[in-house]
Amino acid sequence: MSNEVFPWRWLLQPSCNMAMPPPKTVNQTARKHIGLRYGRCWILRRRALELNAFFDSKVIIVTGAASGMGSAATRELRQLGATVYAADRNERDLLGICGETGAQPHVIDVSRVEHCDGIVSKAVSEQGKLDGVVNFAGVIKRTGLLECTDEEFDFVMDVNVKGCFYLCRAAARVMKEQGSGSIVNISSIWSDIAAAGVFGYCVSKGAVSQITRSAALDLAGSGVRVNEVRPGETNTAMLASERGRTLSKREIDEKLREIAVSIPEKRLAAPSEIVNAAIFLLSDKSSYMQGASITVDGAYTTC
Ligand SMILES: NC(=O)c1ccc[n+]([C@@H]2O[C@H](COP(=O)([O-])OP(=O)(O)OC[C@H]3O[C@@H](n4cnc5c(N)ncnc54)[C@H](O)[C@@H]3O)[C@@H](O)[C@H]2O)c1
Repeated sequence: MSNEVFPWRWLLQPSCNMAMPPPKTVNQTARKHIGLRYGRCWILRRRALELNAFFDSKVIIVTGAASGMGSAATRELRQLGATVYAADRNERDLLGICGETGAQPHVIDVSRVEHCDGIVSKAVSEQGKLDGVVNFAGVIKRTGLLECTDEEFDFVMDVNVKGCFYLCRAAARVMKEQGSGSIVNISSIWSDIAAAGVFGYCVSKGAVSQITRSAALDLAGSGVRVNEVRPGETNTAMLASERGRTLSKREIDEKLREIAVSIPEKRLAAPSEIVNAAIFLLSDKSSYMQGASITVDGAYTTC
């Protein structure tokens, strides 16, 4: 991986000299990001070393890795040194993100139990262990109770609920045996409160929260932790989707603007802002968190 896409690498080099500018291979955005001119480099270097220690030899499965939050998590975990098994059913985009980050691509459908068992077995047989799983794969159907068809309901349940269950169970079996591991599920603000017009989705995310809590109790004391992140409205392809037709760019912008004004923070979350919470839960920094939920929603559910 080149420094062009990976400024942390440069920061972590023993030869990294804070008095000198970073090499030419570190691009302008990265230079600005690391705040070289403002003397924040030492703090960042310390933080990079600290975080790197957590993920350097870690083996993590990320589902939904081809898009939105899953792709942001794949990038971040790779930058922090983890070996990432990136899983998605969208082969083309998955190969793109894996080519960029060096993650290992696995085209799977999380609603199929053999695919979920398969990726866990593969990771363990190749790496000898599994440290973390983060379940980003998810789908939405924008129909309310009266219009929701059996097929739509089953589809959303199969991916969001069964997919989460299958991965949690497969990972927990291995992790319990090894006495360690962290599973992070992605529910939603709509797991606790409801939204109109997305019936199956709200039901499915409520179930994801219960998977998290029940699994956490079943695994408590074994060294395996299960927690969840509850994202609010986040700027990804999922939020831009509409029922039955593809929106134009202008319509998408308009829709996202309307959503943003309804949020106390007056903006959507960036995928990386949700991923930060997931990374904390994956890391040993959250060692006493079990069955917990971190809401990241710009205060949407506080009013
Ligand atoms: N975007 C939001 O506002 C928002 C808010 C709350 C929660 N969430 C949840 O966050 C998670 C990530 O969502 P996102 O916004 O990044 O969505 P996204 O649509 O950008 O990404 C979802 C990914 O899941 C993959 N996927 C779908 N079905 C799959 C299957 N059966 N097997 C394997 N992969 C599959 C898709 O191909 C896609 O790459 C989802 O669980 C979603 O429900 C999103």
